[in-house]
Amino acid sequence: MTDSALARTAALVPAAGRGERLGPGAPKALRTIGGEPILLHAVRGLLESGRVDLVVVAAPPSDEGVAEVRRILTGLEPVLVVPGGASRQQSVALALAAVPEDGYDVVLVHDAARALTPPETIASVVEAVRSGLPAVVPVLPVADTIKSVLVGEDGPDTVGRTVDRSGLRAVQTPQGFRRELLARAHAAAGHDATDDAGLVESLGESVGMIPGHVEAFKVTTPFDLVLAESVLERRGPRRSARMSVPLVGIGVDVHAFATERDLELEPRPLRLAGLDWPGQSGLLGHSDADVVAHAACNALFSAAGLGDLGSNFGTDQPEWKGAPGTVLLAEAARRVRAAGYVIGNVAVQVIGVRPKIGPRRAEAEAVLAEAVGAPVRLSAATTDGLGFTGRAEGLTGIATAVVFPVD
Ligand code: CTP
Ligand code: MG
Repeated sequence: MTDSALARTAALVPAAGRGERLGPGAPKALRTIGGEPILLHAVRGLLESGRVDLVVVAAPPSDEGVAEVRRILTGLEPVLVVPGGASRQQSVALALAAVPEDGYDVVLVHDAARALTPPETIASVVEAVRSGLPAVVPVLPVADTIKSVLVGEDGPDTVGRTVDRSGLRAVQTPQGFRRELLARAHAAAGHDATDDAGLVESLGESVGMIPGHVEAFKVTTPFDLVLAESVLERRGPRRSARMSVPLVGIGVDVHAFATERDLELEPRPLRLAGLDWPGQSGLLGHSDADVVAHAACNALFSAAGLGDLGSNFGTDQPEWKGAPGTVLLAEAARRVRAAGYVIGNVAVQVIGVRPKIGPRRAEAEAVLAEAVGAPVRLSAATTDGLGFTGRAEGLTGIATAVVFPVD
């Protein structure tokens, strides 16, 4: 990630195409290589480059297409998903429109279909723009002899002439642009170009070149699927396994319910799972005593090896004193990501007699998921009258979290 808030890079990923040349089946970006969707490989490559601060995916435009893309990319972030358009160019324009107005000064456009582009190539494109080229494309020399075609009027086509291939380059993605230039090129686009540099060229602006990579080929025909499988095989299991080895964490928190006497001194409303519970007496604690949010924080810190609630928000960090549980949870998630982890999910079980979680489970899960930026599951259990939870003297929250190291 880049340090400055003003120098961020967004990557647009057109992934809305049908993949007609690949033959019948799901939209191309959702087809799998190495057991995982083409789109997942592409987005992961962008994030692994360490130079991309936001990915915007233009998904197959149906509701199912958008939902499926969201599902595939769960846990990867920061990622936005928008419905794509009828042409690649429209898909790119729609993704560009979703990039926040401020902060992003460099934009990449990267075909989902170039799923195996090495992160190093992606990083080189960003570096080339950051070091002064307003537009840049990765290119490869052309290997085949190239001939122009004379279309046969009545018979088969014949050769027009042999084109000097030394002056030709095959162009790949990601293509990198100063954001302002790409926006201007799309606003002025009078034709449907097959790449974004083409639109910039139409403005009369120059486009730089850097070396591309053979593994940045576009999955277009069934043969490319075979090629992609063998590239993945040659890379070996470590490269793809890196993201898929999960780390689990555990967290607990306990607070006592306010007694009649406590409540006579001071009213104490109940805060639990990020929600207010009107009419219920609350839990005692310096903070809002939200055992669900606190257990979730502990689990996240545990999974990432970052200690626990006390070591993160203890007395040496007074700015967090009295902060609501959901604020602590959002900060815990931020710290876990800053330490280099993607958050898979968090699951919390609350143990106690009251309140009844079931009727408000969805509401609570939505509030907690918003704080974490990943799915949060909430469940509840009683203890058959046993112990302090069984006697309704307090509540216990127990949580697990799953995170994935990014590198
Ligand atoms: N693309 C897109 N929106 C479209 C068409 C294409 O976002 N309306 C994307 C594709 O998903 C792909 C990239 O643009 O990642 C490059 O296009 P291409 O390889 O041609 O993909 P498809 O259009 O899906 O394939 P085909 O032309 O064989 O149908
Ligand atoms: Mg196409």
